[in-house]
Amino acid sequence: MSTKKILLSGIKPTGRPHIGNYFGAMKQYVDMQNDYDSYIFLPDYHALTSVQNGAELAGYSLDVAIDLLAIGLEPVKVTLFKQSDVPEVTELAWIFNCLTTMPYLMRAHAFKDSEAKNKDINVGIFDYPILMAADILIQDADLVPVGADQKQHVEYARDTAEKFNRVYGDTFKLPEPRILEAVAVVPGIDGQKMSKSYGNHIPLFAEDDEIRSLVAKIVTDSKTPDEPKDPTTDNIFALHKLFSQDDLAEIENKYRAGEMGYKESKEILADNIIKFITPLRARRAEFAADPDHVKKILAEGGERARAKASAKMTDVRQKTGLSF
Ligand code: TRP
Repeated sequence: MSTKKILLSGIKPTGRPHIGNYFGAMKQYVDMQNDYDSYIFLPDYHALTSVQNGAELAGYSLDVAIDLLAIGLEPVKVTLFKQSDVPEVTELAWIFNCLTTMPYLMRAHAFKDSEAKNKDINVGIFDYPILMAADILIQDADLVPVGADQKQHVEYARDTAEKFNRVYGDTFKLPEPRILEAVAVVPGIDGQKMSKSYGNHIPLFAEDDEIRSLVAKIVTDSKTPDEPKDPTTDNIFALHKLFSQDDLAEIENKYRAGEMGYKESKEILADNIIKFITPLRARRAEFAADPDHVKKILAEGGERARAKASAKMTDVRQKTGLSF
């Protein structure tokens, strides 16, 4: 048996990833895949709270799986799977529902935000943290790397584990969140945090023309090329930090000395993004050309994840009195 700690995280298949998702989460899954027994999955049951078109959801799931493989996630190291291939999580979520109070769930930030925007939210959104707790606890995860916006959900998982353990006896591990800091520092082209919902994102597998035109739109102040510029507040420079290898110090010096205009800075950035994305795009095209292969990887991952989940549920069913 592996002595590595168990890492688990999910990327909701509700759209195509952008470079903020990449640096904020996806790349870190790849970086950590040698050090943990990793479970990375597509929470498609969670996605149903917002995507209610079958072809669309299936398409997103396959696409995000391809994206993860293209950036270097290795299915021999990582159990990559679709949440719905482990239907036991919905059973566990029901059991957790019966231990969870409504006022406790009503305190969730994500719920309060959605409710503020739309009164007609569905029960799935309300119960979202409990399904997420089931995802995490059913696999005995030690570590859950997530963006800062998901920290409270990992705390809900810990609370739920404690509650179950108190009522039925020691069963679930308490997972630790690992907050992926980079999420906060990847600005979109308008300078706000990069997010699909703000429409300020650069897609991870964008074509060259699209990259150039998005980079050209990055918002800056109105300094002329020969005025000194502050790299710590400029949105273009924040992206240089992610994409520049050897030229970062030089760009910084030229900014401070008033030797580089924003137009030139954007051209360098677009070139560097293109250099970075070109090999990823090529790998993506290879996987995309063979969707059956990708589906097989997901199916195998699903079997492994399900075997572990159903062993856990045998214990849960005994303890709760569902099995006897
Ligand atoms: N809620 C997460 C998000 O929106 C996705 C998710 C679902 C998840 N289940 C999970 C993340 C379990 C980590 C662990 O990003």
